[in-house]
Amino acid sequence: MTLDQNKPTWYTDAKKYWDSIPSDVEGMLGGYGSLTDIDARGSTRFISEFIEKKALITNRACDCGAGIGRVSKSFLLNHFNSVDLVEQTEKFLEQAKEDFGNSGLSDKVERYIPLGLQDFTPEQGRYDLIWCQWVLSHLTDKDLIAFFKRCKESLNGGYIGVKENVCKAGVEYDELDSSCTRSEYIWRGLFETAGLIIVKEAKQHAFPDSLYEVKMFLLK
Ligand SMILES: C[S@@+](CC[C@H](N)C(=O)[O-])C[C@H]1O[C@@H](n2cnc3c(N)ncnc32)[C@H](O)[C@@H]1O
Repeated sequence: MTLDQNKPTWYTDAKKYWDSIPSDVEGMLGGYGSLTDIDARGSTRFISEFIEKKALITNRACDCGAGIGRVSKSFLLNHFNSVDLVEQTEKFLEQAKEDFGNSGLSDKVERYIPLGLQDFTPEQGRYDLIWCQWVLSHLTDKDLIAFFKRCKESLNGGYIGVKENVCKAGVEYDELDSSCTRSEYIWRGLFETAGLIIVKEAKQHAFPDSLYEVKMFLLK
């Protein structure tokens, strides 16, 4: 079967896949849970100059496709006063609630939003940073552009952060989880179409060579 973004089961297939995945860090990272520290350090290094020069306010971030809250726990909450989690797999949000409770961080998570990003509209002026990590491969180009535009419209001086796999050329589809990995060229085209400007970009270093290259973009 050829996979493409127009198939009617694009989102339901992805949902079925994620419903079958354990609610733990290994599940979130396909068995590469041990990369969390390197991942979080790379993200911190990426945004720190913006925090230092106070270009990035650190009141509230939105963790998009948050899963069990791995990114919030290891990265966002080291910098931001609070986060909202947006995630379509409800069992992951339940796990996140339990884990944040157990680690005494309940009051740092303001909202658990059980939605796919294709249906999510950020509240006007609510976020200083809308961070999307390892989730945008699940959005069709059309929905991704519309999502980016809604994010941009909602920001009051804040930023969008994108941390995603990139392939060497074109788009690579994964039938297993109904996702597509985009090349840098394709990413740039999508940012441009959505009216976003890249204010910083960097490669995530020290990940195994066997994985896709991972790139971070800070957008306005
Ligand atoms: C590879 S995991 C990454 C989770 C988290 N961002 C992290 O890095 O630990 C992908 C996550 O995206 C979620 N997801 C898949 N499709 C989604 C969609 N359309 N909208 C929101 N979340 C989605 C999955 O349920 C899963 O939690």
